[in-house]
Amino acid sequence: MNELKKALQKRMESGTLRELTLIPSGMVDFSSNDYLGLANDLALKDQIIKKYQSMHSKNGATGSRLLTGNSAHTLECESFLAHIFGMPTSLLFGSGYAANLAFFSSIPQKGDTILYDTLSHACIKDGARLSFATKMAFRHNDLNDLEYKLKNSKGKTYVACEAVYSMDGDQAPLKEMVALCNTYHAHLVVDEAHSTGIWGLNGAGWVAELGLTKQIFALISTFGKAMGVHGAAISGSQVLKDYLVNFARPFVYTTGISDFEVLAIREAFSFLKKHSERTRKLFKLNNYLNEHYSFLASASPIKTFIVGGNKATKEWSLFFKKNNFDIRPILSPTVGVGQERLRICLHAFNSKKEIDFICKALQER
Ligand SMILES: Cc1ncc(COP(=O)(O)O)c(C=O)c1O
Repeated sequence: MNELKKALQKRMESGTLRELTLIPSGMVDFSSNDYLGLANDLALKDQIIKKYQSMHSKNGATGSRLLTGNSAHTLECESFLAHIFGMPTSLLFGSGYAANLAFFSSIPQKGDTILYDTLSHACIKDGARLSFATKMAFRHNDLNDLEYKLKNSKGKTYVACEAVYSMDGDQAPLKEMVALCNTYHAHLVVDEAHSTGIWGLNGAGWVAELGLTKQIFALISTFGKAMGVHGAAISGSQVLKDYLVNFARPFVYTTGISDFEVLAIREAFSFLKKHSERTRKLFKLNNYLNEHYSFLASASPIKTFIVGGNKATKEWSLFFKKNNFDIRPILSPTVGVGQERLRICLHAFNSKKEIDFICKALQER
């Protein structure tokens, strides 16, 4: 116990103690992953509730999908998602964390190699840690380093990247990565957590937008960000799905997702299809920011302003809070020392005036 207290004390002293807080209501959101405003949309909420009340369903799944926890709604939603993502199959998970953990802990075998971008999300790294395969990081978006590691990898190689990097907002060079994976017979796995719902027909994602779906071994899509609800899916071949159903421990040994969650995912996609103006608005604001404030420019709605130092980064966040803007500081150890930053997320519901305030304040510092 003393060791635990000491570790917490150390965090307290370095100003990095994590605590659960509530967002004060009424603040302008430049922080959440609700890029399209679906999480707060009352019409979508209404749509979900009405549909839920009219459908025959259980409140909870009651068990693992392999026991009593499967449902016709879940199966139907998986077919629907496979169609959206243009893949033969999709398999639902309770979260993106669980999906990545399931994939990387079960698919690469002993003697295989996992190569992951060094800025990959914790759940990709944790999944790789649970695998018996050899794992190696390649430098962020560095095709030369990736090629060097592909040349030297053993067994089947799985290359992991994110379509949009969650802390930096930049994109993986997917076309080039596909070409490299083809050359070295490696399997590309793309985490679309921050691109599902934003790019591609009906929100299929960045891979679909680039027309690369057929070249990807597995697509990991999440629904707790732009889709405004919760859950995730792994999409790929029938063999991949069958293998996950049989061997992925985060799938086998957990309660299936509830019909309510399944319905929310289904309705969020149908809502998005009818409200494509949301996506257009988001891109319009993104273009505005990129054109006027090039120091923050990025293709995605995630903008990064490196401050350096936990204290200074927190002070910036506090400054914005005092001005009614919710902008979160991203501190070390979540990012490397010296890389402490403000993570500014654009949303379809933000305004040019708000963008001007934030960017001008940062510009004039
Ligand atoms: C790149 C990436 N992958 C996966 C996840 C996990 O997804 P979820 O929040 O649905 O567990 C996140 C969440 O922050 C993420 O940023």
